[in-house]
Amino acid sequence: MKDCWDWQAVPAYAASNHANSGRTKTIELQDQVAIVTGAGQGIGLACVLKLAEAGANVVCADINGEKAEQAAQAAKSLGRKALVVMADLGDVGEISRMIEETVAEFGRLDIIVNNAGVTRRAYIMDLTEEDFDRINRVNVKGVFFCMQRAATEMIKQKSGRIINIASIAGKGFYGTSNAIYAGTKGAVLAMTKTAAQQLGQHNINVNSVCPGIVFTDIYKGIIEADAKKTGKTPEEVQAAAVATVPISRGNEPADIADMVVFLASPRARNITGQSLNVDGGLVPS
Ligand SMILES: NC(=O)c1ccc[n+]([C@@H]2O[C@H](COP(=O)([O-])OP(=O)(O)OC[C@H]3O[C@@H](n4cnc5c(N)ncnc54)[C@H](O)[C@@H]3O)[C@@H](O)[C@H]2O)c1
Repeated sequence: MKDCWDWQAVPAYAASNHANSGRTKTIELQDQVAIVTGAGQGIGLACVLKLAEAGANVVCADINGEKAEQAAQAAKSLGRKALVVMADLGDVGEISRMIEETVAEFGRLDIIVNNAGVTRRAYIMDLTEEDFDRINRVNVKGVFFCMQRAATEMIKQKSGRIINIASIAGKGFYGTSNAIYAGTKGAVLAMTKTAAQQLGQHNINVNSVCPGIVFTDIYKGIIEADAKKTGKTPEEVQAAAVATVPISRGNEPADIADMVVFLASPRARNITGQSLNVDGGLVPS
């Protein structure tokens, strides 16, 4: 179809869109192969479903094999192929195995969503060396080596999309779970920029999505810790947090997955090195 920038093409473009108006889903990623890390629940699971809806075959990687299996079944129920990889994404050897198993099964790798992440709610003075190592291991080391090992395949193919799930914590969000976590997400934002600059020559786009408040288990843990500390109910704590969001609502995991599918799609071909907030306006940039 001719692009809409040619004004003479507008009537034909509009007619064609009208003819397609019965379609509710856009199949933009037909037969592409996508890895989602931390696929077993929350934002990762939503990414699996939305990528599968958009036509992709999906590799569901998680340290929890049972949940990864459930995610893969969900992708299959949408008519796609799916592979389960049970792996600890803080371990470089496991990351390499995940990439190898993907290529052995599907012969290629088009998209990786580096989503697996960990944290705990803690005041800066209560954080320990164990916290530092545990959180950095998954959130920074894991994301870096997932990018690097995925890029090994994408460079051969001369195309690829790397999408990192960072956080507005990396941009100074005051309500973040802890200072170490904020540091890991800041590191993801910095690595995204450099990776985009260095991998662009291979037609690989690298971007981050920065979620705000998302109703998942990780967020539930934060709310419960705050409720315990303040003597309020989790519902009260959550309502107070949502009241600070300019658009007056938090995110469902699907809100983040929609941005991921967009960044994986041909529509985002010239977007790279960016960190895009999906936060209802909590952090201004
Ligand atoms: N929920 C939020 O409010 C929020 C906000 C900003 C950013 N994020 C980020 O979004 C991402 C997903 O968060 P979520 O809220 O869906 O969390 P979640 O805890 O619901 O899910 C995380 C998933 O990652 C998996 N995982 C954890 N450690 C792993 C490891 N070492 N190897 C493999 N898998 C592992 C878990 O088993 C789980 O399935 C994280 O990177 C998180 O930092 C979340």
